[in-house]
Amino acid sequence: MKVTIYGSGYVGLVTGACLAEVGNHVLCVDVDPDKIDRLNRGEVPIYEPGLEAMVTENTQAGRLAFTLDPAEGVRHGLFQFIAVGTPPDEDGSADLRHVLAVARTVAEHMDEYRIVVNKSTVPVGTADRVREAIRDILQGRGAQVDFDVVSNPEFLKEGAALDDFMKPDRVIVGTDNPRTGELMRALYAPFTRNHDRMLLMDIRSAELTKYAANAMLATKISFMNELANLAERLGADIEDVRQGIGSDPRIGYHFIYPGCGYGGSCFPKDVKALERTARQAGFEARLLTAVEEVNERQKERLFQKLHSHFGGDLKGRTIALWGLAFKPNTDDMREASSRRLMEALWAAGARVRAHDPVAMEECTHIYGHRDDLVLCDDHEQALEGADALVIVTEWNVFRSPDFERIRKALKQPVIFDGRNLYEPRHMEDMGFAYYAIGRGRRD
Ligand code: UDX
Repeated sequence: MKVTIYGSGYVGLVTGACLAEVGNHVLCVDVDPDKIDRLNRGEVPIYEPGLEAMVTENTQAGRLAFTLDPAEGVRHGLFQFIAVGTPPDEDGSADLRHVLAVARTVAEHMDEYRIVVNKSTVPVGTADRVREAIRDILQGRGAQVDFDVVSNPEFLKEGAALDDFMKPDRVIVGTDNPRTGELMRALYAPFTRNHDRMLLMDIRSAELTKYAANAMLATKISFMNELANLAERLGADIEDVRQGIGSDPRIGYHFIYPGCGYGGSCFPKDVKALERTARQAGFEARLLTAVEEVNERQKERLFQKLHSHFGGDLKGRTIALWGLAFKPNTDDMREASSRRLMEALWAAGARVRAHDPVAMEECTHIYGHRDDLVLCDDHEQALEGADALVIVTEWNVFRSPDFERIRKALKQPVIFDGRNLYEPRHMEDMGFAYYAIGRGRRD
């Protein structure tokens, strides 16, 4: 089948590569000439395990191509996927400018039936706005062309995106036209063949499902972070509590890891956007407000622990930081806890020596070169002469470090662990002051 995808960002590229991988002919359209140039040379501008190889293979096989020309895009695909960004407005609602611009562009060039598929995360009601935008342009052109608008939200996780797309838990398709539903089913058949995982529903329910899934996961995390803070005051160990509740299948083990707050391009943005949608619908979503507040507070926890350990005196201290990305296996630092921590440390007059296996370039991109930030080639180098070690991202390479080396390199043996990677008792036996999240009294 022929597919066009607008937006060669995270979702667009993964969708394009995976649809080409199973034999479709995919054309990706983007407005950024530099990006299209790089993609045509086989360079993938984002870090995602396996993506570059898949893009290269499918480009060489002639199933995947990139262009700046939207007219060519509209001619090419029966399916016209919109996978452009929906950054938050100042008030937290999703900015639909790019989505609607693509809809208008498609309408300007459309001469025969097209299925416009919304893959960007968009508020409930967006499909109606896309439909209206297309209709207006068609009317202006005096063109009588049939089209459908479908909602098909994406649930992939960064770092596991190819696997998530190739083996989805479910494919959500919202449409008011059963025939279009069947065409979507055919497109996704290679990914859902062994087990029918496609859920067809009305458009608004599909749009809401995406936000509901992310808000539910964010709620689980904030709930655990709240309990972790309580456990610290009560002298309980949240890791025992986590296993104690996770063993109940109604609760489950997933997404109940306490930490230094959730980040990334989805949870913070989507919780805010859903809260905003609720408000616009005349409804106050109290739980969502609390989920966000708890997360904001959690991102301050590591700094608070450092601050109180050093008696409020962080000026002139050097802090080793392991992890910059918002989670392992990505270079993404959007809404990452590391940023909040570094900014607080800098404001308090401390310096940071940081290492991340892949996000260092991204860090330079965000902060540039500054005297109070040294990016180190490996995690052990980051320790040299530091007053303390802080762990923010649970990369595998940090899970079993050379503790002797850590002790020797640090000025004093103190570790602040935002991801609960080690056993407090072992750490104390080895002579470390070890601050984790929710693991008994410590400060
Ligand atoms: C998320 C959703 O999982 C995915 O389905 C959706 O399509 C996009 O948003 P992603 O943002 O890539 O994916 O990362 P995810 O693995 O969900 O982690 C999000 C954040 O939550 C990270 O900062 C992570 O450290 C944090 N987290 C996750 C916790 O703090 N505790 C947990 O138990 C799980």
